[in-house]
Amino acid sequence: MKPIPNFAHPIYPVLQQRWSPRAFSEQMLSKADVSILLEAARWAASCMNEQPWRFVWAFNDDSPLYNKLFDCLLKGNQEWVSTAPVLMLTLVEPKFHSNGKPNPWARHDLGLAIGNMTTQASSMGIYIHNMGGFSAQKVQAHFPQLQDLDPVTMIALGYPGDIASLSEYNQKREQEVQTRKPQTEIDLSSKLS
Ligand SMILES: Cc1cc2nc3c(=O)[nH]c(=O)nc-3n(C[C@H](O)[C@H](O)[C@H](O)COP(=O)(O)O)c2cc1C
Repeated sequence: MKPIPNFAHPIYPVLQQRWSPRAFSEQMLSKADVSILLEAARWAASCMNEQPWRFVWAFNDDSPLYNKLFDCLLKGNQEWVSTAPVLMLTLVEPKFHSNGKPNPWARHDLGLAIGNMTTQASSMGIYIHNMGGFSAQKVQAHFPQLQDLDPVTMIALGYPGDIASLSEYNQKREQEVQTRKPQTEIDLSSKLS
């Protein structure tokens, strides 16, 4: 069981329940589940309504697409991701459609979309683990069709499972209580007034 962290203020249960698992159960997600998660992402706000987020995902089914995605991950992530039923790559369109200029908010807007997806997932008992630990070069090599997009993260999705499937190191991490900086550190207002 993941320990319950100490929330300083009451927040929605779906936000409280969220954490990033490394052990996933054998319970599969359906295509309909994934469509619901992408729908939640689709309805995020974005600068000029550009909706710069893009997703490539596959079930953990030994398909060529899944194997390419998996190969993009760094070793440390590959170690535990192999039990997750769904693997996803997130990307952004780096330029505005309207004028071809760089969109400095593209990654921000992807983050909003992933936030929506994560909260929707949490409401369905599904958990998301974001990963920066992947090779953008491998993404380029495996998916030349995506060369105009910037890869940003990969995501493992599924239901939490038995931590016995993990290495000793990851079992320990899986049981750690989530920690956060106090609000006094992230809210700078009082220091400026
Ligand atoms: C952009 C991003 C990149 C991350 N990269 C990795 C990663 O490569 N491997 C990993 O195990 N966890 C990764 N994480 C998960 C974080 O370590 C985790 O969210 C953080 O420790 C807080 O834990 P919690 O999500 O369980 O609250 C990443 C999270 C984010 C948002």
